[in-house]
Amino acid sequence: MSISHARRHRDRIWETLLTVGIVWWAIQVPWQLEFGESRRIWWLIIENLLTLLFAADVWLRWQKRWAKQRPPPTNGALFEQPESAWWLLADVPAAIPLWWFGGPLWLIALRLTKLPRLVQMMRNWRRRDLRNAGRLRLIFFLFWMSLISHWIACGWSALRDRVPGDDDGLHYLRALYWTITTLATVGYGDITPDNATQMAYAIMTMMFGVGLFGYAIGNVAHMLANIDQVQAHYNASLDRLATFMRYRHIPLELQQRIYEYYSFLWERHLGYDEVLILSELPEPLRIEIAMAMKREFIEKVPFFQGASPQLIREIAVELRPVLIRPGEYVFRAGEIGRHIYFISAGTVEVISGDGQTVLATLTEGEFFGEIALLLHRPRSACVRAVDFCDLYSLDKATFERILAFFPDFSAHIQEEARRRQQSR
Ligand code: CMP
Repeated sequence: MSISHARRHRDRIWETLLTVGIVWWAIQVPWQLEFGESRRIWWLIIENLLTLLFAADVWLRWQKRWAKQRPPPTNGALFEQPESAWWLLADVPAAIPLWWFGGPLWLIALRLTKLPRLVQMMRNWRRRDLRNAGRLRLIFFLFWMSLISHWIACGWSALRDRVPGDDDGLHYLRALYWTITTLATVGYGDITPDNATQMAYAIMTMMFGVGLFGYAIGNVAHMLANIDQVQAHYNASLDRLATFMRYRHIPLELQQRIYEYYSFLWERHLGYDEVLILSELPEPLRIEIAMAMKREFIEKVPFFQGASPQLIREIAVELRPVLIRPGEYVFRAGEIGRHIYFISAGTVEVISGDGQTVLATLTEGEFFGEIALLLHRPRSACVRAVDFCDLYSLDKATFERILAFFPDFSAHIQEEARRRQQSR
């Protein structure tokens, strides 16, 4: 597992823990305000652990923020902006261990200052998991609906007198029943407000319910329709491709390889043609997006770590993604060289022209195909993918232009080319 992969994995686990903690409090705070704190020992243990978790979170975020504020040793600083300090301040109240101070019960409401963090994490999940963005949106919507119903129900419980014989659970259940019928604009009228405060509360709940209902009708249908939009886009391009290949009598074996390529493309890139999408954007935006998309890759290439931001910008916009399946040749010896390639993921083998010897194995962060471009000669060797490879290519004209402008880059590539030629 690469370092960035491991870091991402760790971040996910941390976010999951935080989510559990925040949701716990979002449910517990209104409940405890109405029905009192729980005195059960394991309940207290959980709550103290969660406070520790929140405190650790504040600590980690401060550290991250400081790390980002130091002068940029790498080009990573080009991409990441430090978080605003306000975010962190909002996190602090939720991390105060209240049981140390005693104090009034309403102080537990401080735990809710962590809620915006949940909103932020949800937004990030949707961005990260684009393929399920529609589904996630629906799930999050249902989650917030349930949570808000719970809050309103707790409020109603507080306003109502208890029906004789009801315990906490039943009292709450009646309130929840009233909340749902009111929010859903069903309004059976079997539980009605008894005084002015309750009436005002009911009016607000109804108004909120009407708004929510309108929103839900408009959006849920739309969300459901959109869930499979990406999949539909993919199916449509496959259909078009299939028709074309049949019409052109493409050999079956080749058809099979093209399908496999497409499903690979789908796995990695959701089937979107990034070149096409980028070409429709204005230049400055295109550069920003190219930088953001290729950030992970650029971080992997050792040479780019010390390179100037201008060079990285130049290269990032011009790099074109190329996907190669295991066993396929990127090019063969003797062909005319038109591109230089950088490896973003996967491994390739450099094989001698006669196909007998493996001259080298190149992997993540390395490049190949420079010799033909520099010396204006045919390819000196074949290059074949060992596993699924994500490459980025730079065409000859751009490569030469960049060499002319950036002497460091030029020297680095020439040096590597010389070393490789001598090693044969
Ligand atoms: P080019 O000649 O354009 O095409 C084949 C590429 O394989 C070549 O550029 C180099 O990038 C790469 N290559 C050739 N020989 C070696 C080697 N010994 N070690 C690593 N890479 C090599």
